[in-house]
Amino acid sequence: MTDDPNPRPAAARWGATPADDNEKLSEQALRASREQLAAALAANQKILDNSHDVICTLDRQGVFLRVSRHVERMWGYRPEEMVGRLYLDFLHPDDREKTMEHAEILALGEPLNGFMNRFLHRDGSIVPVMWSSVWSESDRTTFAVGRDMRDHVAAEEKLRQAQKMEAVGRLSGGIAHDFNNLLTVVIGATETLAEALAADPDLAPVAQVALEAAERGAELVSQLMSVSRTQSLTPRTVNCNRFLEALLPILTRTFSKDIEVRMVAAADEVCCLADPTQLTSAMLNLCINARDAMPGGGRLTLRAVRAGDGVVLSVEDTGEGMSAQTQARALEPFFTTKPEGKGSGLGLSMVYGFAVQSGGRLEIDSAEGSGTRIALCLPATTDCAELPLGAAPAAVLARGLKVLLVEDDDLVRGQVLRQLAALGCEVRSCANGHDALDVLASGVGVDLMMTDINMPGGLNGRQLADHARLLDPRLPILFTSGHTEDPVLRSVGHDPLAAFLAKPYRRAELARKLAELTPERA
Ligand SMILES: Nc1ncnc2c1ncn2[C@@H]1O[C@H](COP(=O)(O)OP(=O)(O)O)[C@@H](O)[C@H]1O
Ligand SMILES: [Mg+2]
Repeated sequence: MTDDPNPRPAAARWGATPADDNEKLSEQALRASREQLAAALAANQKILDNSHDVICTLDRQGVFLRVSRHVERMWGYRPEEMVGRLYLDFLHPDDREKTMEHAEILALGEPLNGFMNRFLHRDGSIVPVMWSSVWSESDRTTFAVGRDMRDHVAAEEKLRQAQKMEAVGRLSGGIAHDFNNLLTVVIGATETLAEALAADPDLAPVAQVALEAAERGAELVSQLMSVSRTQSLTPRTVNCNRFLEALLPILTRTFSKDIEVRMVAAADEVCCLADPTQLTSAMLNLCINARDAMPGGGRLTLRAVRAGDGVVLSVEDTGEGMSAQTQARALEPFFTTKPEGKGSGLGLSMVYGFAVQSGGRLEIDSAEGSGTRIALCLPATTDCAELPLGAAPAAVLARGLKVLLVEDDDLVRGQVLRQLAALGCEVRSCANGHDALDVLASGVGVDLMMTDINMPGGLNGRQLADHARLLDPRLPILFTSGHTEDPVLRSVGHDPLAAFLAKPYRRAELARKLAELTPERA
């Protein structure tokens, strides 16, 4: 309108209408259209100001003409610091070439969507951006919308990490399963040998060494099962403050004096649901990592906090922290930055597996040079009454117990049979479920059935148990497995006459389970 070389008087051009009416009308129209324009501009500005994408215009040389306000949150620069400067100045140097190629294609006039490059935030961090842009020849301007892809890329990375952990978990779970059966035999047989040789001064130590090595193997298998989330867990109520209080003296006693260990308790009584033994081992793992990260001393903080519907048990240190590369791989089994013989690389992967299997998660917060905080998030429970762990019943309770043993693996069956016999049990053994049902149906008295869960031949342990209970509804059943199959374990948890024993096990554990299932003998 300001371009009009002769804007007034309007009446001269519009003739027929009386002059002042005319003037009034056009003034009204003018005001109305000005207001419309102002409203439209304000609306545009609102869109620009509130968009979480960066909206910008650039000239032919790639100099910023206008940049929307959100850029400050995305790249750390204010719009006025960017206007007049080159797009390339803010770009990650490695992405220059492909961005310039992209600009050439853009100049041909085709709108381009989905182009990704990386910008450098003022603080030096990398910000991946996805662009939708178009070059307008008539305006000699590029109109571009850049979307912050940080969250997206982080989520993708997390997913990739989760898939990787899934794969290594399955692999280690498979290995652990097979080794479990082998070690059940080795430990049992060596235990028998060690007892028989106890009086022989030359051979007793040899048997002892073999037993210790087999037990170390079992421990490694148990670690692998934590990694693969197939560890057999018995979740109980854990009072978090009391749990950390119990941990504290162990740490102060074993860590060197230049590490200050302190605890920040939760304000209220908070309790979580977790397997106490495994939780202790997980927290010790985190504390040992923290200690290792502070060779010159520092401060280790144990903290319990309630967070939403969970609790967080965290270990913080003022140590060397982790580089981005270390952090990206820290959860991988066997990844370690420690010298040969010092680190197994299984610590964090076990803690992670334990957290996930317990229905929680693990959070790592670390920066090179400024310490690490690792948080174990676990489901909370409002029922804070801790169950007493109960005194272990004596092995002698198993004496005379009539046990029906069902196990398809000949080696394992022979071994368990010897263990049961050594406890004084009277044992009938079967290699499959059908034979076991025949024994039960024959009416020979059976006080307890002990069965493997994974068995071929049409009847697995659970199915066998269901059939057996039709014959004897009050038959106590002890399930064993090298794997902790969830569905079966859940049904065991609801069955007061059933228990589960994870392979491999020591004779004492077997005795304890047998006694647990036959309380009337106590
Ligand atoms: N608190 C920590 N501070 C610094 N680095 C850590 C910390 N915890 C773990 N890490 C890093 O993660 C790696 C893997 O840890 P972990 O799985 O426990 O195996 P290991 O302790 O046997 O090396 C360590 O080697 C170390 O590089
Ligand atoms: Mg460790």
